[in-house]
Amino acid sequence: MKHFSKITLSVLLVACGVFTSCSKDDDPAPQTASIYQRLGGTTMVADPDNPGQMIEKGRLSYRKVVNATIGLIVADIQAGANGNLQAHFQPLLSETGDTQATNIAELSDNLTDFFSYNTGGTNAVNEYSGLNMVDTHNPATNPRMGVKANNADYTKFEGYIGAAANANGVASNTQLYTDIVAVLESLRSPIVQN
Ligand code: HEM
Repeated sequence: MKHFSKITLSVLLVACGVFTSCSKDDDPAPQTASIYQRLGGTTMVADPDNPGQMIEKGRLSYRKVVNATIGLIVADIQAGANGNLQAHFQPLLSETGDTQATNIAELSDNLTDFFSYNTGGTNAVNEYSGLNMVDTHNPATNPRMGVKANNADYTKFEGYIGAAANANGVASNTQLYTDIVAVLESLRSPIVQN
């Protein structure tokens, strides 16, 4: 059905070009590519972290941003500043050795799935199989969430994603950045529970 609509739309657009009687007001709004497409989409590229394997470019872009964000959160906690995210990630950080490494890798994978799948990367490789955002961020339903997040925690977290996006080629003054922030803001309400 979706496919059919797209075909219909392109036929209409061509028709408008041919029959100039179409008024400007009747033109359908231009379609913006999904965020996933703008981050590289389904084009297959070599996976820099897994020699010999290929990865969708959109997924690779997200994975880079997610891993840079996790790096900034860990640095935040290590700095021990006031209002840091230590308490939230305490269960994850108190794990040791292989368990911690595995769980951080899993968190990276789940975050990459979540962002990819929900912004247009709907191939099976990106399918998100974790908890919903309310249950994920409630210590009662996810023992790996240390304490509930408040608005300030969320703003800080979002700032780290923004910095990680900047570091990976998405400048703050672009439409793409604005669209990513809009997605993040749409998640504030289910995630902030304190
Ligand atoms: C842009 C906002 C955020 C998004 C999209 C997001 C998304 C996610 C996702 C997809 C997971 C994995 C869930 C699973 O594996 O079942 C997760 C886990 C988690 N998130 Fe968030 N989150 C956000 C903000 C926050 C904030 C603000 C905090 C705390 C300050 C936080 C703390 C955690 C913790 C502690 C976990 C659990 C780690 C684990 O189970 O391995 N998140 N989040």
